[in-house]
Amino acid sequence: MLNFNFSLPTKLFFGKDSIKDMGSEILKYSDRVLLIYGGGSIKKNGIYDKTVEILKSNNIFYKELAGVHSNPRVESVKEGIKLVRDNNLEFILAVGGGSVIDCGKGIAAGVFYEGDVWDLYQRKAGFNKAVPLGAVLTLSATGTEMNGNSVVSNLSLEEKLHIGSDLIVPKFSVLDPTYTYSVDKYYTSAGVVDIMSHIFEQYFSPTKDTFIQDRMAESILKTVVNYGEKVLLEPENYDARANIMWAGTIGLNGILGVGKQGDWATHGIEHELSGIYDVTHGVGLSAITPYWMDYVLNEENKDRFITMGKNVFGIEGDNSITTARKTIKAVKDYFASLGVAVVLGDIIDSKENIEKMAEGAVRFGNLGGLQSLGKDDIVKILEAAYEGKLK
Ligand code: NZQ
Ligand code: ZN
Repeated sequence: MLNFNFSLPTKLFFGKDSIKDMGSEILKYSDRVLLIYGGGSIKKNGIYDKTVEILKSNNIFYKELAGVHSNPRVESVKEGIKLVRDNNLEFILAVGGGSVIDCGKGIAAGVFYEGDVWDLYQRKAGFNKAVPLGAVLTLSATGTEMNGNSVVSNLSLEEKLHIGSDLIVPKFSVLDPTYTYSVDKYYTSAGVVDIMSHIFEQYFSPTKDTFIQDRMAESILKTVVNYGEKVLLEPENYDARANIMWAGTIGLNGILGVGKQGDWATHGIEHELSGIYDVTHGVGLSAITPYWMDYVLNEENKDRFITMGKNVFGIEGDNSITTARKTIKAVKDYFASLGVAVVLGDIIDSKENIEKMAEGAVRFGNLGGLQSLGKDDIVKILEAAYEGKLK
């Protein structure tokens, strides 16, 4: 195990009606707030009314930024920065899924940066100050509610890039599983895939002797596999939604990745796909993950695949590559059982941008911790994914 520093500063309010204490929590930071939300789901399911009622009853002044897209656009981040500056706002409240929260984090980071906020995402500049931010999560998937990442798209440049900093970790997050009842099947299952993918990215590591992190990861994966189909069949099953929600938070709040090197190649490749085609993140991951696994599997790392297969999917077999391949097939079959695409050719209609995606994926260097991948490797993975072919 490697050395690590670890801090989880986000205060969580988890459970039914856990939003009720949010007013006093916001007031610890300021009474001038930017309220951000997406395309309108929070107006349909009542979360907007509840939020506004809390802001008003606590005499909190607020301005709104509405219409944040799924795969948030840098244009929304810029609009938010302007609203904060023009109105002297001092706190950001993001109410929505990962896209809304990530947009909020981009605004938080950009307010004190004088140049173009996209410089931060392109790693041309850094930031050392941010506006404090809180979140009300309405979709289980990204873990953004308890981490310091923000992923934003710049479609005019066909780029989807991220920043990561402790400065933009939410001060608090409200996690009410009933708020996810209205998420439709498509986004629920994409979220389940995303949660599993975050765990894979940390599980498939070259670091040895991380027994505790590995068993924790397997138990979260088992939870997700257990409840993933249930939330689709019974969208208002509180315990199923609660287990998935908590799994999503633990999946990417850092605890599973401490003391070891992560992989993150699949996410790097998917962000290129989203940057060009604006596909739903979890759907892109579903169509890439099995083929990444298939490409990197070898004699040296096969034990990780075999152990995960046994402990999560109940796969039996000897200590061979054949058994490891059964794990990969189980992952693909599970994603397919959720109704998510498992063939890249089913979500994009030609191979013409494969080279471009591979080139973009390595713009900051090779990808992957388990196995380092260059452009040619990524082309091969995307081609196999496009055809839907496992070895
Ligand atoms: O815009 P509205 O109307 O709110 O609708 C949203 C959106 O259409 C809808 N939705 C959200 N909550 C709902 C709901 N519909 C009904 N009822 C509710 N309670 O769902 C749609 C998708 O929302 P979105 O926020 O885009 O989904 P998700 O939470 O999966 O976020 C995806 C984004 O997060 C990034 C992805 O790349 C993508 O841009 N990620 C962020 C990460 C992070 N910050 O740590 C890590 C991830 O790996 C990921 O890259
Ligand atoms: Zn993800």
